[in-house]
Amino acid sequence: MSDLDALRLEALTAVASATELSEIEALRVQYLGKKGAITSQLKTLGQLPEAERPGAGARINQVKTEVDAAINARWQSQTAIAEAAKVQASAIDVTLPGRGLQRGALHPVSLVLERIEQFFHSVGFESVVGPEIEDDYHNFEALNLPAHHPARAMHDTFYLTDSLLLRTHTSPVQVRTMESQKPPFRIICPGKTYRVDPPDPSHLPMFHQVEGLMVDEHCSFADLKGMITEFLRVFFERDDLKVRFRPSYFPFTEPSAEVDVQCVHCSGTGHCRVCSSTGWLEVMGSGMVHPRVLEMSGIDSEKYLGFAFGMGPERLAMLRYGVSDMRHFVENDLRFLEQFQ
Ligand code: FA5
Ligand code: MG
Repeated sequence: MSDLDALRLEALTAVASATELSEIEALRVQYLGKKGAITSQLKTLGQLPEAERPGAGARINQVKTEVDAAINARWQSQTAIAEAAKVQASAIDVTLPGRGLQRGALHPVSLVLERIEQFFHSVGFESVVGPEIEDDYHNFEALNLPAHHPARAMHDTFYLTDSLLLRTHTSPVQVRTMESQKPPFRIICPGKTYRVDPPDPSHLPMFHQVEGLMVDEHCSFADLKGMITEFLRVFFERDDLKVRFRPSYFPFTEPSAEVDVQCVHCSGTGHCRVCSSTGWLEVMGSGMVHPRVLEMSGIDSEKYLGFAFGMGPERLAMLRYGVSDMRHFVENDLRFLEQFQ
């Protein structure tokens, strides 16, 4: 009986400190299993005098029941704790503030392209796109730039084969439009263009252009001037922005002019590096479409006249946003891009 008391105490203490379910199960086997320490006590009953057996048997069974109950209770409480821990581990705290989505932004060159398109759509121009891989005919020949024409040297060209190249300007889209559409029409052609220009503060080997073309029976240099001047004033949001047309040369226009705006940084005073102290900034090429170019694309140059212009959105973006180096546009530095949100 003193053995039994010791066993009981030992079992209850072990159960009370067992934490793992496997440990508790092992204790059940150890004390209450077929060969368990307490169960084995019943087998010693035969050694007792007859009269003591019932009392001893009842006492052993009482200890068995007590230990069994302790094991069950411990099993239950440890199961509950394990379950709670599991729930806790996978819990979502709905009161935490959200991580939030970072707000994206349009690229500054996209913003400029959008502004250009917005203006010209509002005055009746349609956007047209063409292939970035062009043939020599559409990029040069049909624009009055035959092979060996010295002006080809102005376009350092990426050739893919003898006759295929990456377009050096968006002017070939004007050729494709004149070939396939009957005048009158007004189009702008936005898109990527390529030249073997090493990257520097004002050049990229891949850049954008927006070409514009209007062909109609009555279409004069005055229309070109008015349209471009209005565009630049809207674009730079300056009603009094000074614009000048400087005589120039393009093989596909005659007469030709380069368009300068009053420097948007020094307001034309010339105390400024942006405009190299001239007070003016060149923003596009323009002119009346050369009669030969109209004829080559099947348009009667006796009946129709056209004006065309071509601008560089990267240059315009630099002026509008005060960016000093064109390379920022392609470096994908988030500190730069985030400023256009
Ligand atoms: C042309 O490409 C003519 N096709 C424009 C034109 C169209 C004239 C219709 C007359 C009639 P130009 O080579 O100047 O012209 O290029 C036009 C614009 O493209 C430039 O003013 C400049 O803004 C931009 N540009 C030219 N080269 C680069 C370059 N490497 N990187 C970034 N922008 C450039
Ligand atoms: Mg130029």
